[in-house]
Order: sequence, then C-alpha cells, then structure tokens
Amino acid sequence: EQIEKGGYDHFMLKEIYEQPRAILDTYRGRLRADQGIIKMAGIDEHLEKFMNANRIIIVACGTSWHAGLVAEYIFEDLARVPVEVEYASEFRYRNPVITNKDVLIAISQSGETADTLAAIKLAKEKGAFVFGVCNVVGSSIARETDAGAYTHAGPEIGVASTKAFTTQITVLTLIALKLAKEKGEFSESKFHEFLTELETIPAKVEKALESNPLVEIISDVYKDATNCLYLGRGYNFPVALEGALKLKEISYIHAEGYPAAEMKHGPIALIDDQMPVFVIATKKGHYEKVVSNIQEIKSRKGKIIAIVTEGDEQVTELADHVIEVPETLESLSPLLTTIPLQLLSYHIAVMRGCNVDQPRNLAKSVTVE
Ligand code: G6P
Repeated sequence: EQIEKGGYDHFMLKEIYEQPRAILDTYRGRLRADQGIIKMAGIDEHLEKFMNANRIIIVACGTSWHAGLVAEYIFEDLARVPVEVEYASEFRYRNPVITNKDVLIAISQSGETADTLAAIKLAKEKGAFVFGVCNVVGSSIARETDAGAYTHAGPEIGVASTKAFTTQITVLTLIALKLAKEKGEFSESKFHEFLTELETIPAKVEKALESNPLVEIISDVYKDATNCLYLGRGYNFPVALEGALKLKEISYIHAEGYPAAEMKHGPIALIDDQMPVFVIATKKGHYEKVVSNIQEIKSRKGKIIAIVTEGDEQVTELADHVIEVPETLESLSPLLTTIPLQLLSYHIAVMRGCNVDQPRNLAKSVTVE
C-alpha cells in the first residue's frame, strides 16, 4: 500500500496532487487548441441529439452532483442550453417529466452508484438520450448509457473525491464548449480563447497546489472549529458546496455551503467570532458583490478565509487569511478554487487524527439505496 501511495501519507493527498496530470489526461487527444478542434467520439456521433435537445438533465450524487452544478453554469452560460441538475435519488422517485427531446447526463466516478443507475433506467424508458460521464471504464453506468465520455482520472482510492471532481468538470467543459461552437454561440476567436486557456489549467492547478504550506498553517488555526461556512457565487457557488462536503466527510466538522448572497436569509445569524467563513472571492465573477458579503461577515466578527486571485488587494485588506490562485476565465475558475479547499479539509482531518482515506460511515461507491 505504501508503494501505491507513491510517497504520500494518504491516497487523498496523492490524488489531490495528481490533478494537473489527470486534467491533462482528460483533455489529451480531445482538445487541439492550435487547430481549434474538440474531438469527442461520444458527442460527435450523437451531436444532433445534443443540438436538438430541449434541455439537458444532469443526475448524480455527492461530489459528482456538485460537478453537475458547475456544468449547469457552463452549459447555460456558454452553450445557452437549459439545464436541470438533480439528485439521482430524488429524480428517480418524483415522477419527473422526461421526453424524447431531453438529454440526460449521468455523472459518476465509480459508475456503480445505485440511485444514478436507476435514474438512467427511468430516463431511457421515457425515451431520453442518456450520456454518461464516468471514471471507471466498463462500469455499470458506462454500459447502461447510450454514449459517454470517460474522465481518465485514473483510479481514485480516497473515499473523498478530488481528482474525479476536477476531471468531471473538465469533460463537461469540453462538451459545453463544443456545443457552444456548433450552435454558433461562440465566434472562432472566443472559442480559441477558451481552448487556449483550458490548456493552461494543468500548470495553473500546479501553481494552486503551491499554496499547500500556507493552507496547512491556516488549517492549524481552524482545526478545532465546530461549524464552518463556505460561500461562493456563480460558478463558485458549487465549489463552496463541495468545500463544505469535503470538510464534513473527512474531518467530521459541521460545514455548510451557501450562495454568498443567500447568507442574509439565514446563515448570517450563525456568524460570530467563533465562526470561520471560507469565501471564494476571485476577481472575475461578482467580485464587488462578494466583497460586500465579506464586509457583512467582518462586521459580525466572523473569521474570513478567502480564496482570491493572485495580486488581489481589496479582499486581502479585509480577510484574516487569503489563499491565492492564478487568474483564469470565470467559467474555468472552479478547477483552481477547489484545490486549496481540498487541501484544507485534508490537513484539518489529519490534524484531528481522522481516517482520511476511509472516513467513518462512508463508502467509496454506494451500490445500494
Ligand atoms: C459516495 C462517495 C462520494 C461520491 C458519491 C457519488 O458518497 O463517497 O465521494 O461523490 O458516492 O459517487 P459516484 O461514484 O457516483 O460519483
């Protein structure tokens, strides 16, 4: 097992550090920025299904559901397709309206999650075209779907999902970009700008990983917290949800993710000088609005730990701690902002003596209801 961990103390840390390579492997052979091409067999062969779709329904569970939420922002913003994101467990039992003009995308690292599999079967019965985004090759979901795209993240052993999440987002981004181009939503130059920027992401993830020593110091300050709040807006709202989930899963600290503006409708009542609030406050994406949310937290003496864009000044003045990530397009920013939050939950769990790779009560793959 020590050999499999490749010198890291835990699989989770190894998998966090594998992300630059995993993201590269995900788009390698699919993305040719220099030629302005995205090639994905599963999409190319069924392009008319996507082009004629009334809407895309995304079903998933856990972290994969968060990747689905990021995809909702990407698909609607870039490709202008209506998207609904559903917990597979709710979708399958609520008699959903599904037609043969719908495309259902099922996202699953393991490809074995029982609820997601059941949602796929239901959608197929109703005539929808079903597309899978899985990591495990030949898994049940990969076999049950009409077509699909693998994430190529390599085996993920840690129960808390990390590289599966960022590679799922990468695959879904490729699909959204392809549709945006095919639907005429993107000019050649805009398409080229996105492809070129996507190619810089592995190096930028590498850079984001350099925050590790700082994140470890911050983790030590907040390791004894009993409650934490995670806030983000737009593309980074799902990142806040995912950050909170990671902390809950492996450190057993209660944490909630919220859209930053929604804070005033409830969570703000919880804020006092004991409450760490992790805020994603990158430059592109409602920055000024997030700054005013931060001011509201500060005036209630909450502790602010902000994920900011390199060179940030405004939030840096206000926050107790800042962690910088490289600048990128807003739609690609979740691939970077999620990195320090993964590291943070990892370090806090280690400091609290928790079983990082196999947290209590959780399973890597949930094959029963
Ligand atoms: C379990 C795992 C999570 C995972 C979720 C969905 O809860 O512990 O890490 O996100 O299942 O799994 P899937 O394999 O369908 O992505």
